[in-house]
Amino acid sequence: MPPQKTTNIHATAALPKVAWAKGSYLYDANGKQYIDGSGGPAVYCLGHANPEVNAAIVSQLDRIAHGYRYNFTTDALEELTDIIRTRCGGTLREMVYVTGGSEAVESCLKMALQYQTAIGQKSRRRFVSRQRSWHGNTLGALGVSGFAERTAAFEGAFIPSIKVSPANAYRPIAGATAETAGAAAAAELEATILREGAETIAAFIFEPVVGAAGGCVPAPDGYAKAVRDICTRHGILMIADEVMCGAGRTGTWRALERDGVEPDIMSVAKGLAAGYQPLGAAICTTAVHDVIHAAHGAFQTGHTFTGHTAACAAGVAVQKIIQREDLLSRVTANEARIKGWLAQALHGLPQIGDIRGRGHFIALELVADPETKTPYPAHLQLFAKIRLQGMLNGLICYPVGGNVDGINGDIVILAPPYNATDAELTEIVDKTAQSVRQVLQAENLC
Ligand SMILES: Cc1ncc(COP(=O)(O)O)c(C=O)c1O
Repeated sequence: MPPQKTTNIHATAALPKVAWAKGSYLYDANGKQYIDGSGGPAVYCLGHANPEVNAAIVSQLDRIAHGYRYNFTTDALEELTDIIRTRCGGTLREMVYVTGGSEAVESCLKMALQYQTAIGQKSRRRFVSRQRSWHGNTLGALGVSGFAERTAAFEGAFIPSIKVSPANAYRPIAGATAETAGAAAAAELEATILREGAETIAAFIFEPVVGAAGGCVPAPDGYAKAVRDICTRHGILMIADEVMCGAGRTGTWRALERDGVEPDIMSVAKGLAAGYQPLGAAICTTAVHDVIHAAHGAFQTGHTFTGHTAACAAGVAVQKIIQREDLLSRVTANEARIKGWLAQALHGLPQIGDIRGRGHFIALELVADPETKTPYPAHLQLFAKIRLQGMLNGLICYPVGGNVDGINGDIVILAPPYNATDAELTEIVDKTAQSVRQVLQAENLC
């Protein structure tokens, strides 16, 4: 059955049935081919059915699927831990494994609270986070998320958090320009901390390159360093949520590496095992770990499947391939090429307000008026129509709505596999441009 018209992401009844996939292509039960322009939700960074990753998982399953963490350590877990320590560099050396992004964020929040308790700062129970952010669907992660459409039904039941403005060079906060967007957002953060009382705040959590809630919005120049200084000055831990933008997606293994900043705590998930197994991690510095260890003996978090052996084996295989094939150099080099190709393919469409992002994490933003940057009204559901049109054209991309104010705004995220060929990348770009043009034409908007 071809993809049916639906704008609700939770409505799955009309979806085509995927049958198999290889590399950058997926095939549905009718044999229709789709190119994976977004690695699903920025996950499948090595494409599909990689024989080396599959063999590593099978080989692990043949020995033991899961060595429970309170009984055993395993080769796969130890090897992955070494790899992550090397890739992170610096002092980000201690971690708790989990099965996905929300659990990773949840664990980061708990690490921050446990640390503050351990140093005798138990009054620090609140978090500061940003509007236009997405940190996950568990209650803790949802509560710090600035995504009204997804949080509204649960308001009132969250752990306390304070929301500050996002840092976005294309949409700076009032009074700021693209050049001063980072400094203005950082100043707002510090003013908020002073107003609310630093002694009540455990940590500040943010996405170094905002994913679904903003559309690949990189930290403006100087922002991350300013935030680092503010957090240090006020005894607030800095948590980088790298679930979507980390594990090499933006060209460096840690997204914040490019900003020259080491957070105290960070989350990573999607690309860590590239979707071959569910895997994530909450990682912290030795300084944070040592304080917790001295006071409490261990992180007081973790789950039955923490350090799941087959998942760790998948992570090891994925990370070895990325390193051996030097894929992050390719991802870095492709950033300007993908943006250039997109600009060319969408040439003459003033509705494309911005093309931004880093590495293989690039988004375009649609605007009704390029001068005022006014978004199209939400009821048009342009993003959802582009998703559907893309599927009809044999393209998987990642359009999201609401990036401007939680309701209005249309973005299309591209997050191709790190090893996508040039021909595949240009096919993704061409099909994206074609899908956007078709939807704008069908809506009489161009
Ligand atoms: C930045 C960020 N954090 C956390 C999450 C939650 O991850 P998961 O859906 O794996 O629970 C996501 C998911 O998209 C994300 O983009």
